[in-house]
Amino acid sequence: MKPAFNVRNSSKVYIGSAAELLSDLLPEGRVVVVSDGTIDRLYHPLLARYDSVLIGLGESIKTLQTVETIYRRFIELGVDRSTFVLAVGGGIVTDVTGFAASTFMRGLKFGFVSTTLLGQVDASVGGKNGVNIDGYKNMAGTFTQPQFVVCDPSLLRTLPEREFRAGLAEMVKAAIIADPALFERLEQTSFEALRQDTELLAELIRAAIRVKADIVERDECEAGERRKLNLGHTLAHAIEKSSNRMNHGEAVAVGTALIAGAAVRLGVLKEEDRQRIVALLSRLGFELNPPVEMKRLLKEIGKDKKSERGFLHIVLPVAIGDCEVRKMSPEEFAALFA
Ligand code: GLY
Repeated sequence: MKPAFNVRNSSKVYIGSAAELLSDLLPEGRVVVVSDGTIDRLYHPLLARYDSVLIGLGESIKTLQTVETIYRRFIELGVDRSTFVLAVGGGIVTDVTGFAASTFMRGLKFGFVSTTLLGQVDASVGGKNGVNIDGYKNMAGTFTQPQFVVCDPSLLRTLPEREFRAGLAEMVKAAIIADPALFERLEQTSFEALRQDTELLAELIRAAIRVKADIVERDECEAGERRKLNLGHTLAHAIEKSSNRMNHGEAVAVGTALIAGAAVRLGVLKEEDRQRIVALLSRLGFELNPPVEMKRLLKEIGKDKKSERGFLHIVLPVAIGDCEVRKMSPEEFAALFA
């Protein structure tokens, strides 16, 4: 099967059956699998042959401690520079494994089977990996492209509803950033149809990955345009830091709705476009009220450890399918919500 995308000429992204693709993609030599247990969903005799490293579930394991656990297990297993590392799981597994593999012995080759919608449309594609430090998201990591990413939409049939919805937030995000046709298709469908129609889902996954792949092609290391992929994320990260009630996708939905409101107040987005964004997110089942007071979120953003010399890069939607990045101080950002 031909890859759907070849990101940076080094990372092939496939949309199709993981079981079939893996037979072709895995190298002849030694392979070690890292997973959170979702591997059961993809059971394939091929994988049973390999040593595996199991890590826990949830954002709380996205830490340096987990990376160290993986390193120790790699040492126990005698992993060397020629070993290929395969991560099987959602965005947390691929982020942590990508980091461990790209730093162990100064870098091993690795690939991903992405088993969640959020992983398929966002986290596993584009070469960012990393861990959180003291709850601050993705504070340590590298930009290293996986050799391949396999996105198998059929694996999503058994994904819990809440996790599936979380991925839709990143799909809506991609549509707002650069694909008005994808946005319209999402408006014309329903949560239930997306859950049931694997072919439709595969098409929309492809469209969302295209948005990301095109941007990463032009700006791999987030010197400029890649910042657009953080639409809704400044607020989302503050939500995730302040409350454990929402997962990443749910927080991105709230952050996207809030920033659309700010963009209208700034005069860069039409109110009717904000209404379309809010209507789509609500129809997909997202709760759009922040789970903690706005004041607390803004205070958290003021402490943002990733701000560049005191400035934030805020992504503002300017239309359905277009957005701009503005440099603002945390105070200027807070003023948008006064
Ligand atoms: N998730 C945003 C990025 O990969 O740049």
